[in-house]
Amino acid sequence: MRLILAPMEGLADVYLRRLITAQGGFDWAVTEFIRVIDQPLPDRVFWLRCPELLTSSQTESGTPVRIQLLGNHQSAMAENAAKAIELGSYGIDLNFGCPSKTVNRSKGGAILLKEPESLYRIVTSVRQALPLGTTLSAKMRLGYEDATLMLENALALQDGGADEITVHARTKVQGYTPPAHWHCLEDIRQALNIAVIANGEIWSPADYERCREVSGCEDAMLGRGAIRFPDLAQRIRSQAAQPMPWSTLAGLVEAFWKDITEQMPQRYCAGRLKQWLHHLRQAYPEAEQLWQCVRTETDPKRLTMLLNRGS
Ligand SMILES: Cc1cc2nc3c(=O)[nH]c(=O)nc-3n(C[C@H](O)[C@H](O)[C@H](O)COP(=O)(O)O)c2cc1C
Repeated sequence: MRLILAPMEGLADVYLRRLITAQGGFDWAVTEFIRVIDQPLPDRVFWLRCPELLTSSQTESGTPVRIQLLGNHQSAMAENAAKAIELGSYGIDLNFGCPSKTVNRSKGGAILLKEPESLYRIVTSVRQALPLGTTLSAKMRLGYEDATLMLENALALQDGGADEITVHARTKVQGYTPPAHWHCLEDIRQALNIAVIANGEIWSPADYERCREVSGCEDAMLGRGAIRFPDLAQRIRSQAAQPMPWSTLAGLVEAFWKDITEQMPQRYCAGRLKQWLHHLRQAYPEAEQLWQCVRTETDPKRLTMLLNRGS
């Protein structure tokens, strides 16, 4: 079984990646996507999205981090992939699932699921640019409007040279609305001879087990479930039903706050804290209370006081 921390733009950045992977259980993490238009990107873009490049592409706790690229320009994708590897990324992941209107309008992300031949073209081109032995993965949804091209798309990724694919078991149109259609992953798995990593709606060890039974996939990528329950991967491994108590999690919230206020521009800190608390409050009543106390506050000093009082 391999468990992967999902790429989540604006959410699973270097700070939450560090904190969540430190709870254990993850085999690797994927960065937020780097958007490729038609040019090679400067090195600083890679360092910004993946500061772990400076530490052998590993988080502090030693979890490898893989850079994700999003775009449709095959030679620019290839060049940037080669650059990311040169800078030390733990493989390359390609994004064919992003539902954002802006991204889709410029023919990036999930819109490409309408054109299996484009997936094939991009993956082939990236594969050819990578040094031998580099892991290339790709992440797709079941389709754009519907899942009719699901197998063609998955096969295009495999035939183009992907070593493994992650499938978010929903179409673009289904967005993030439950359920995730794990049974479709079984059909994809049967059609492919590379690993298929299941993704979507895994919030607990019991969900993982059900997903595994229905999809036949041993490997899973955890997204919002790992944000809401930072110890989710570890609990899936140890089959522990109960998440960490609030007393432990409150310490992590404080550490996160300290980390971001020391390293991020002040104007972003309050938003980032509230964003995480918003996820946590779905699971922890104490996080709900804390969120209610801090939600209208923007001043970092006062937020520190409120956090000390509330946690
Ligand atoms: C805030 C947010 C940002 C996301 N950003 C990305 C991204 O940059 N690249 C990507 O491939 N998927 C992205 N996703 C999709 C997730 O990786 C994952 O496929 C999705 O959340 C379903 O998994 P989950 O139900 O476990 O959350 C994002 C999801 C969320 C909620």
